[in-house]
Amino acid sequence: MGRWRLLWQRWSCRNPPVRKPHAFHYRHASSFPLPRQPLPLLAETMARYLRSLEPLVSPEELEQTEQLVAEFQAPDGEGDRLQERLQRRAARMENWITDWWVQSAYLESRLPLAVHSSPAVVLPKQDFNDWKGQLRFAAKLIAGMLDFKAKIDYQTLLVEYSRGYPLCMEQYSRLFASCRLPGPKHDSVLLPPPGQRPATYVTVVRNFQFFQLDVYNSDGTPLTIDQIHWQLQQIRAQSWKTDKEPLGVLTSDHRHTWGKAYTTLMRDKLNRESARAIQRSLFTVCLDSPVLKVSDTRAASRLAAQMLHGGGSFSNSGNRWFDKTLQFIIGEDGSFGVLYEQAIAEGPPVATIIDHVLDYCKNPVQVRAPLIPLQSPKKLYFCFTSEIKRDIEHAKQNLDILITDLDINCFTYPGFGKDLLKRHKLSPDSVLQVALQLAYYRAHGELCPTAESASLRRFHRGRTETIRSATSASLAFVKGMDDDSCQDPERLSLLKQAVEVHSTLTEQALNGQGIDRHLLGLKLEAIADGFRVPDLFMDTSYAVSSYWKLFTGQVAARTDCVMCYGPVVPDGYGVCYNPLPSHINFSVTAFNCCQETNAEHLAGCIQQALDDVGALLGNGRDGSQEEQP
Ligand code: COA
Repeated sequence: MGRWRLLWQRWSCRNPPVRKPHAFHYRHASSFPLPRQPLPLLAETMARYLRSLEPLVSPEELEQTEQLVAEFQAPDGEGDRLQERLQRRAARMENWITDWWVQSAYLESRLPLAVHSSPAVVLPKQDFNDWKGQLRFAAKLIAGMLDFKAKIDYQTLLVEYSRGYPLCMEQYSRLFASCRLPGPKHDSVLLPPPGQRPATYVTVVRNFQFFQLDVYNSDGTPLTIDQIHWQLQQIRAQSWKTDKEPLGVLTSDHRHTWGKAYTTLMRDKLNRESARAIQRSLFTVCLDSPVLKVSDTRAASRLAAQMLHGGGSFSNSGNRWFDKTLQFIIGEDGSFGVLYEQAIAEGPPVATIIDHVLDYCKNPVQVRAPLIPLQSPKKLYFCFTSEIKRDIEHAKQNLDILITDLDINCFTYPGFGKDLLKRHKLSPDSVLQVALQLAYYRAHGELCPTAESASLRRFHRGRTETIRSATSASLAFVKGMDDDSCQDPERLSLLKQAVEVHSTLTEQALNGQGIDRHLLGLKLEAIADGFRVPDLFMDTSYAVSSYWKLFTGQVAARTDCVMCYGPVVPDGYGVCYNPLPSHINFSVTAFNCCQETNAEHLAGCIQQALDDVGALLGNGRDGSQEEQP
């Protein structure tokens, strides 16, 4: 018996066999037959739509919209005809709205992915402070990701539940080896072709240089942490800072501009092969260079900026490929975060992956490295013509302007967390949404159209619905809070009514009975069939009520992190939160070019609103309980 064979046998005895990934990687982790997403009744959507307008439009505008709604849903009118067509669509498709939603919300949007679209997850600082720790952590992270991927490949990923319902798990498999592709009019999504084995490598980027790192041995077993670490050291040795072009910033540009630059880039064979390698890789790991230190109070917001956009063309933005679905960002100072592109998936599956990977990093599976020679990581070269260099210069300027314009404020509210609200028999999410209404009202003297994302994963291929959180009940509450003649018992009762109304809207949205996807479906059905767009959608109330000045969302994770994204309108805010048992993490963003908005001011108003809500519930600012429910 040869020496290699003997060593192999010894190694195999110490290490449990790992099944080789097979060709059917991307079957659903869930074999649950989930229900199809229902199509709401036209009359119910219309009634809910009119109710949602009450706190936002003038009585005259509301009257005009009531008239339009009456015409729209007149017997045998436009509404009936479009609803009938939607019913037929719902009968023949797996999900009647998901493809249209992804197309209109993401792929047709021409705004840059950076700041405007892709959310970032800001994670706690890790326990290292130099490049050695950075590489060691990156190795564990990659191993943790492969461990999670094995659960998908071997269909051992447990089905998730929310409020007692099993959730669609399809998004998990699509997070790996996928990428958004820019197009001149609209983008598309690159996924591994069904039945074909996806990539077996990840992309690593450092000092603007991209590498293809194989993460499976030739026998199909995943590389061990030590093997990955060894490979990362080789990448570091080959990626010293030179005057490299920050090619990655091209992907941060306006989609039309990037679409044109992409066509130029892909004309060259070398560029085509390198770009395809990045697009098809399982995910990207960005090894960021050190960034300027800031005061402790600004540290969380600075970290959020690094994760969201990379800090600018002179900082780490060239270490990103914004089109890539999953990018893990690791700094030398222990900073860690994730940036993801959301045409493929929403935040909750990403948060679950992060929880898994961080658990894995704390207790990694120690496997002895097999004695199989490893291929060196492959550097991905690009050919920079003068045209491409000019495109990069433009993209750098645009990104730096966008970054200067972004105002970010991340903070932890320490007064209470979801446990206190649960003890009061209130939905924590609904209380936070009502508190956000109070904060905005105090900052701007009125309520504004507010969107909160609710998951539709109870249904096969479901994505999200919008909860319209500005309601007549929340308006009554916020007015009561700042009305001196209103006493605390009455304010508490108004708070509970507002929370109750929000909880009802949440339940409707989660059950596929929300307003916004149905309205979108009716409008797109008219366009698809070449009909005139109904007057209802040309009405001021429709435009005003879906101009999301407050774009909000809860992305809950066990990890002490928060998600962060930019506002969706120039004079609005992006607000995201993670309610943990005894505190809540928030991120607030706004644009500096807008005189009226200010992230720090809104953040202060949110903290004050939560203090006031806590006080109504008998909770001191320090978390002390004056009165038990
Ligand atoms: N009394 C006591 N406890 C209550 C309660 C009440 N009246 N109402 C809710 N709770 C409990 C729940 O049981 C839950 O308990 P758990 O922590 O043990 O699980 C907890 O409070 C949280 O519930 P709640 O705050 O009501 O909401 P939720 O966690 O169900 O979240 C949504 C609501 C809408 C945010 C969530 O369903 C969802 O859709 N999330 C995805 C959002 C998304 O896709 N975002 C993407 C943005 S990129």
